[in-house]
Amino acid sequence: MAESKTATNENEISRDRLAELLNEDLCREYQAIIAYVVYSQVLSGAQYMDIAAQLEIHAKQELDHALILSRQIDYLGKMPAVTPKPVRTSKNPKDMLRYDLDNENETIRNYRDRIRQCEALGEYAMAEQIRQILMQEQDHQIDLATALGVKVPDVSGGPKARTLRKRR
Ligand SMILES: [Fe+2]
Ligand SMILES: [Fe+2]
Repeated sequence: MAESKTATNENEISRDRLAELLNEDLCREYQAIIAYVVYSQVLSGAQYMDIAAQLEIHAKQELDHALILSRQIDYLGKMPAVTPKPVRTSKNPKDMLRYDLDNENETIRNYRDRIRQCEALGEYAMAEQIRQILMQEQDHQIDLATALGVKVPDVSGGPKARTLRKRR
């Protein structure tokens, strides 16, 4: 179908726009790699031993995600991004875990949207790859929420449901 009007609806997405959004996802994956590399080594205290070991596993999974995304961006004919989103640090272990949880929530919101966008473009294999990533991000989210002793946040509203972030 030859559509001349510009895509305004997120479901009416172009391949170029999808590549741009995947590059944003890639910058979040770089951010996650760095955060997990550092946090897994600096978290100290007996009560954080288990989660520190889990964060080391997360770091390696985030690298796999970055590789998968780079491949998809290249497939769409674009250059993969090279800059991580900023990484926050703290001396307080709880703060570090909270930063990670916030980032995972944001990542999950974005990947849920990305799957819909890939499918809208008929990129079903790409949607499947992102679904696999999303499953691991949800595990990360659960690991972090459990370590913090909080409920797993409900991020089902998609990237536009910003008000969910303000919830206690
Ligand atoms: Fe990831
Ligand atoms: Fe993650």
